[in-house]
Amino acid sequence: MSLAQTERAIPNDLEAYWLPFTPNRAFKAAPRLITRAKDMHYYTPDGRAVLDGTAGLWCTNAGHNRDPIVKAISAQAAELDYAPAFQFAHPKAFALASRIATLAPGDLDHVFFCNSGSEAVDTALKIALAYHHVRGEGSRTRLIGRERGYHGVGFGGISVGGIVTNRKFFGTLLAGVDHLPATYNREQQAFTKGEPDWGAHLADELERIVALHDASTIAAVIVEPMAGSTGVLPPPKGYLQRLRAICDKHRLLLIFDEVITGFGRLGHAFAAERYGVIPDLITFAKGITSGTVPMGGVIARAPIHEAFMRGPEHVVELFHGYTYSAHPLACAAALATLDLYRDEDLFARAKRLEPIWADAAMGLKDLPHVLDIRTLGLTAGIDLAARPDAAGRRAYDAMVKAFHDENLVIRVTGDTIALTPPLIVAESEIADMFERVARVIRAVA
Ligand SMILES: Cc1ncc(COP(=O)(O)O)c(C=O)c1O
Repeated sequence: MSLAQTERAIPNDLEAYWLPFTPNRAFKAAPRLITRAKDMHYYTPDGRAVLDGTAGLWCTNAGHNRDPIVKAISAQAAELDYAPAFQFAHPKAFALASRIATLAPGDLDHVFFCNSGSEAVDTALKIALAYHHVRGEGSRTRLIGRERGYHGVGFGGISVGGIVTNRKFFGTLLAGVDHLPATYNREQQAFTKGEPDWGAHLADELERIVALHDASTIAAVIVEPMAGSTGVLPPPKGYLQRLRAICDKHRLLLIFDEVITGFGRLGHAFAAERYGVIPDLITFAKGITSGTVPMGGVIARAPIHEAFMRGPEHVVELFHGYTYSAHPLACAAALATLDLYRDEDLFARAKRLEPIWADAAMGLKDLPHVLDIRTLGLTAGIDLAARPDAAGRRAYDAMVKAFHDENLVIRVTGDTIALTPPLIVAESEIADMFERVARVIRAVA
């Protein structure tokens, strides 16, 4: 078919598009289409306003189609569409890296850009491996992740990740990876607001892993400060601090995957700040541009960056990068987004709303089939009991019903509902959102 003919192809033929992380046949039988968005709402082709309970995919933290960001992207597209990312650069890349470095705690002050959370994770893992190599400790090659962790879908990310369905179809993955146990225990932690009291001791499992492999073979430990995609698992009190101490003891790099927790989700620029724990590398994506233009990155502590800045000055120090690293549109979007977060004090707003949010979420406790509710920052996970012989079906039905009958977007994983609204959510919208969710939970009882 010629290009001219493809243009005339039927626009509503759903066949060619293979949707990611979506049951394609069920979707195409009853599509959930979105054509427009503004602030807290999406709009469907037939004009329904749908409340965004998930900030897109945990990314539109400033709300949708915010004027300053839209203007910055349009102006950038008209001025500089692209500049080569290797051997050349444009001014906004430096401006943005400085802004992010200033925002990050401690000496986390060098920023490497990529285009997604998955790329950020693979970049961080590669920096960790290369760091040990350039320091003459090339035997440190093992990577430690955690059960139920989600670190995107690259081979590095699924290897250190701990979500079985994301791993089991894809072969043997990276060699030399081990996993900490997940931090969730319903018996000990059910219906906790914020960080649960039980579970800090699970960080000591790292000592067991070190004893098994020896520290001299281990490069890095990677965890999400709050496991998001697996269903919102807040870290037990003291857990991350303990992990940091054990990593220090054995000189393992600690990587916080802050792709979800970065940029205000937990009431701070980064979760590292909330917990007073400085990791060696932070990955970020999503909220950096409030979801408007794909962007991700890694923030590295000064000594890590320093270790690479040796050898002849004309030689590349890190053989890694992407055509679209620090893309001008993404940088412009990110700078405007950071301005908006600052001008509207959105991280502090998330912090102020956290108790109101947590109370509203816990209000669903006595609904049928609710097994647990967890909250942290502006995030909630609600576990529903699986239907007999149909794991995931109840939550899936809830998501479909929420969209069609309650004009609400929720996210589901297994039989867990996750809610993570834009940080601009009004108190009245929080109440309204949980009322709609309550009706949906009753409807799928
Ligand atoms: C903690 C974490 N890391 C990495 C990713 C992957 O990000 P992306 O989908 O942009 O590749 C996600 C996505 O949800 C995430 O939550």
